[in-house]
Amino acid sequence: MPPLPHHPFLLLLPLPFLLPPPPSLAWAPPSPLLLLLLLTLAPPPLTCGGGGGPLSRCPQLCNCTLDLTGVDCGSLALSSPPSSPPPLPTQRYSLSHNRISELPDGYFHCSRELRWLDLSNNSLSWLPAGLFRSQSQLRFLDLSRNNLSLLPGTVFHPAGALGTLRLSHNPLLSELDPLLFRGLPELRSLDLSHCGLPALGVQALAGLEELESLRLEGNPWLCGCGIEPLVEWVRSHVQRCSADSDLFPAECRAPQEMEGVPVFSLTEESFQSCRFSLSLDDYLFIAFVGFLVSIASVATNFLLGITANCCHRWSKASEEEDI
Ligand SMILES: *[C@@H]1O[C@H](CO)[C@@H](O)[C@H](O)[C@H]1NC(C)=O
Ligand SMILES: *[C@@H]1O[C@H](CO)[C@@H](O)[C@H](O)[C@H]1NC(C)=O
Ligand SMILES: *[C@@H]1O[C@H](CO)[C@@H](O)[C@H](O)[C@H]1NC(C)=O
Repeated sequence: MPPLPHHPFLLLLPLPFLLPPPPSLAWAPPSPLLLLLLLTLAPPPLTCGGGGGPLSRCPQLCNCTLDLTGVDCGSLALSSPPSSPPPLPTQRYSLSHNRISELPDGYFHCSRELRWLDLSNNSLSWLPAGLFRSQSQLRFLDLSRNNLSLLPGTVFHPAGALGTLRLSHNPLLSELDPLLFRGLPELRSLDLSHCGLPALGVQALAGLEELESLRLEGNPWLCGCGIEPLVEWVRSHVQRCSADSDLFPAECRAPQEMEGVPVFSLTEESFQSCRFSLSLDDYLFIAFVGFLVSIASVATNFLLGITANCCHRWSKASEEEDI
């Protein structure tokens, strides 16, 4: 019996495949159709950790450490971010003190190692909802001194390891989504000072179990009944949350008679009048209930009257019968 070949695939491959092409077949350029096909099949341009030495991967004009873990693109008068985003190994990245008004969605897609990100002192007016999609390692995020007016409610959700979040000095930021800080159980420091917030719902702070520092000064606080839950929340979390209220007091801006009053000097007595004041809905409800009660009493009286009348007649009739 002949010995079996070592490699079974050799049996299946047609012999010409194993041989060099015959010399008569000259190289012909690939057809344009084939080129087109190759181009459309090519991977998308956004690939992470691409080739090239460290220096060729340092974004142009920026200052990079040799191992690319630190990338500084600060103070370069940029009006748009460098076309090449921070490379994969980058842990510290700064774009601060520029004039950047927009960051494309997916800009930090490849920077999965980012721990420290400084975007402060730019002109950002909005953020794409998925901007921090890959930032599960991020500990520090500075968005202060921008032009932010609206933050997508889910924008920080992927960055669950955040310990410090700075949003101060965004004067157009007048409202926060109640779910904005959900899923940030490690947040210790939150800076919301010098924004445009007249109010802050405590739903937005729920779940910030580790919060130690909360800065709220410099906002146009509206010190009506609506601010009581915030004052109470800060007071009941004061063991863990310094609120920095003595150093940087948050002051009421409105109503006029409260202007300049420190928000956290308000006591339970300050809100006494809130307890017993009734809203229009309350008055309408009371009026409605009163109306129902009076209808019911009229109907009851009517029924009682009829019954008494019947009894009276019936007893009279039976008396006459008896006689
Ligand atoms: C780059 O980094 C070096 C060393 O830290 C520093 O001396 C230099 O000023 C930096 N250049 C820029 C443009 O930031
Ligand atoms: C913000 O950046 C500009 C340069 O774009 C600089 O002149 C200015 O001092 C910076 N402001 C702060 C508060 O750092
Ligand atoms: C801030 O945003 C507003 C509109 O949202 C725009 O009109 C204004 O020019 C922006 N300012 C800066 C400094 O970018």
